[in-house]
Amino acid sequence: MHRILILGSGGREHALAWKIRQSPRCEALYIAPGNGGTDELGINLHLDIEQWDEIVDAIGSYSIDTLVVGPEAPLVEGIRDALEGHATLRGLRIVGPHRRAAQLEGSKAFAKRFMQKYGIPTAAYRVFHATEEEEAIAWLRQRRGPYVLKADGLAAGKGVLILHTEEEAVEALREMFAGRFGEASKKVVIEEYLQGREFSVFILTDGRGRYTLLPIARDYKRIGEGDTGPNTGGMGTVSPVPFLTEEVLHQVEQRIIRPTVQGLLQEGIFYQGFLFFGLMLTESGPAVVEYNCRLGDPETQVILPRLEEDLLQLFDCLYASDCQLPPVAQASADYATAVIIASAGYPGSYPKGLPIHMELKEGDLVFHAGTTKKGSQLVTSGGRVLACVGCASTLPASIAKAYETVQRIHFEGMYYRKDIGKDLL
Ligand code: AMP
Ligand code: GLY
Repeated sequence: MHRILILGSGGREHALAWKIRQSPRCEALYIAPGNGGTDELGINLHLDIEQWDEIVDAIGSYSIDTLVVGPEAPLVEGIRDALEGHATLRGLRIVGPHRRAAQLEGSKAFAKRFMQKYGIPTAAYRVFHATEEEEAIAWLRQRRGPYVLKADGLAAGKGVLILHTEEEAVEALREMFAGRFGEASKKVVIEEYLQGREFSVFILTDGRGRYTLLPIARDYKRIGEGDTGPNTGGMGTVSPVPFLTEEVLHQVEQRIIRPTVQGLLQEGIFYQGFLFFGLMLTESGPAVVEYNCRLGDPETQVILPRLEEDLLQLFDCLYASDCQLPPVAQASADYATAVIIASAGYPGSYPKGLPIHMELKEGDLVFHAGTTKKGSQLVTSGGRVLACVGCASTLPASIAKAYETVQRIHFEGMYYRKDIGKDLL
């Protein structure tokens, strides 16, 4: 039996809490800080997750034995290393990699170097430091567009710019070096533009070369229908992904997942936790757009409803020498579609504190992201507010079900894309 603490407050963490709560191995569940949905599954702890002392205290007070880290920032900053260094926390199990391993997400230059070394397909690239601005511009001018510029460090998902003209690209590069994304863009990766369809692949890996492949998903990142407008954290998602053939999945495993896991072992990097491969299916096969050191949001909201494994049993396998992770997770044959309901104005500025009205029916599945409770009233508190998930035996039925649930929710100015999953029909 386990006493779990989940760190984070988004839809991903609500879905994790929902799945973990179903496990017979779950004795107690806490979420910090959680949201207006997680508090119905466990106890929300109102602590500041950037203050690691507060986390240490909570782990002690509530006798937590398993810490699940939802978002990337604490992992990249080394929360696992810090907590493992605490004498009072011996025996605590942490799901999520150490700081060095989390560099796969924390430094795009590190990730590119790693992929190059291990022959993992990815866009051709060069890395430039702010001190090499003129050289970087000269190099960029010799290329053809579109131009892909990436801040090396974490930039809350906003650090990737795709520019169509040379002048825009030069301008953007100067801004990045000047600190548009703070320290994160003092180093910039300039890379080749990859044409194709994106999809997201996740594994849970034990750090010893074994891993479980989780269900695959497609994410809709742009705010507007038809994939237009600015990038967001994700406006919808579908699992599984119909355009992926057995052959492509085999290539993903052989060319990308295995060399990554083997490469980490060879580098002496102990990577334990979820690893997310953001992939592009190009004309010459699948290529890596990025690694993330955690589960995706909103992908988790469709992956976990399809997962037939006990998540806590999988976590137990990370730590027990007599247990082996299954190579492929058991998953339902059903499709799952999630439609995100966002606040008016997102991904720009948006109002908060608007009352949310929901009249859900039995069988509706809704994960909260930017919600909180004011007394007994649920109100908005973020850009992405709710994820409505439809599960059904066909893709059209799962899409229809997700949108039926959307109709039972209302708050002022709510926005959602009406085309989630439609390109896959
Ligand atoms: P990332 O934060 O690395 O996932 O990048 C954000 C988004 O930018 C990705 O999901 C892609 O849609 C797009 N992107 C990133 N790198 C490339 C690339 N080399 N070619 C085309 N699109 C890209
Ligand atoms: N959905 C993409 C991400 O979590 O970064």
